[in-house]
Amino acid sequence: MAMLVVAALLLCGSLAKLLISPVAKIPGPWLTKVSSLPLKYHEFIPGRRMYIHRLHQQYGPIVRLSPNEVSFASLEAIREIYASGGSGYNKTEFYDMFRQFGMKTMFSTLDKRTHSQRKRELADSYAMSNILREPHVSTIRERAEPFVLQGAALARSVDVYVFLHCYALDCVTHFMFHPGGLSSLNDAKNFQIMEEMTYHHSLQRNLLQYYLPKLAPYFPSWFKPRRAPKTNAYVQSITAQEHSDSHSLLGRLTQKESSLSHALIAAECKDHMAAGIDTTGDGLCFLMWELSQPDHLHGELCSATPDTPLDKLPYLEAVIKEGLRCAPPIPMSFPRYVPSGGRTIDGTFIPAGTIVSCQPYTLHRLDQDVFPDPDKFNPDRWMNSNGAIERNRLFFAFGTGGRGCTGRNLAMVEMKILLREVYSKYRTTVAADMTGCMDIDDQKNIFETKGSDLQVGVHGQGQLLVDVCEFML
Ligand code: HEM
Repeated sequence: MAMLVVAALLLCGSLAKLLISPVAKIPGPWLTKVSSLPLKYHEFIPGRRMYIHRLHQQYGPIVRLSPNEVSFASLEAIREIYASGGSGYNKTEFYDMFRQFGMKTMFSTLDKRTHSQRKRELADSYAMSNILREPHVSTIRERAEPFVLQGAALARSVDVYVFLHCYALDCVTHFMFHPGGLSSLNDAKNFQIMEEMTYHHSLQRNLLQYYLPKLAPYFPSWFKPRRAPKTNAYVQSITAQEHSDSHSLLGRLTQKESSLSHALIAAECKDHMAAGIDTTGDGLCFLMWELSQPDHLHGELCSATPDTPLDKLPYLEAVIKEGLRCAPPIPMSFPRYVPSGGRTIDGTFIPAGTIVSCQPYTLHRLDQDVFPDPDKFNPDRWMNSNGAIERNRLFFAFGTGGRGCTGRNLAMVEMKILLREVYSKYRTTVAADMTGCMDIDDQKNIFETKGSDLQVGVHGQGQLLVDVCEFML
């Protein structure tokens, strides 16, 4: 009996603590004052992104998700969480799920100081001045040309989802390993690496490991995150070779005075490979789908030639930004811990240790003064100088601050070259036999699978069939 009384008192004490915490005063469903179950439930179904989005629509730009987690959707919050002091707050253990070969990479490093040391070794390779230098631009173009030729030669609808993921993989590996790199568009063995790295539907399995790390070793094998043995072997072998090209990522890391061991270089390269496939591939897939709609005017895209300089195509830039705004390839929250002492975020005091985040999906939609008619794909909104500053500040597809996307410049150049190559020569239409679904998914690969007639026999990908046969007049 005495035990029961003590337990009841402890429970009341904990509840009272939760109810008087500053987080309890933040708007949100009542249950989230005392429990994280509603949030976890939505993570597992999986529907976290839309759950949070609906809460923001109901409660405004600050929403309590659990007794220890708050979501924000405002410019002030982006600046404070992700850019204060350069790279914002430390990441949470959520990012431990993204270790490579058991090691922490730049992406999965949690604390700012360790991250900035690693970033110093890697970031200059991704500067626009390096990406726009030869051989990088020609190697990207050499990957875009066969993409278009193969599509047109088939003279029927093609599964561009698969083609685009091959293109993204081939581009990123050539950027990292030039003169090496994969040719998954036309090599069956390389294609298997693309299959292994993409079509992931393992978010729930990863979350189980994250929430129940002590039980993880006892999970049956089908409960564990998917392995990538072919990719691992490829990365280990190529990073062990000598690299003469000082402009490739690997060349830079092995030639200059780098403190990174071979094991860490391999882990970083695998991470950048993973980071560059689904993101760029999904972004392009959504764009080709939108550009294939009957009512879409391709405008400047069609008047371009394959040689038009990339910086002379402002409409193409607007099209890509609008695609990434409507369907950000990583649409969900990027979680961070509030530092010791607590911080005031967007006018609200949040105690130390609280998990705070913003998600691109909501930032790109909630403020309809900045993004009117937010669900409509409308590249013209980026061509209007009125409100340009506000739009750009709320554009969060690549994150922001010191931990924003390192590969942003590479991704933009890959997307621009591919779309210029396709739309300067062809029109595309969505094929009548398309079976995929373009709804955004909470996975890293963003489109939900509802297709049953998978052309290439791979499970788990959204399939988009776009006919690339109609020549421009
Ligand atoms: C459209 C394409 C892409 C999108 C939308 C995108 C988006 C993002 C976002 C949102 C983050 C920050 C995530 C967070 O804070 O949790 C990020 C980080 C990162 N991305 Fe990308 N990414 C893209 C392409 C690429 C490519 C092509 C590469 C490399 C080849 C790359 C490499 C990285 C790396 C290394 C980080 C970690 C940066 C750090 O922690 O300092 N990304 N990306």
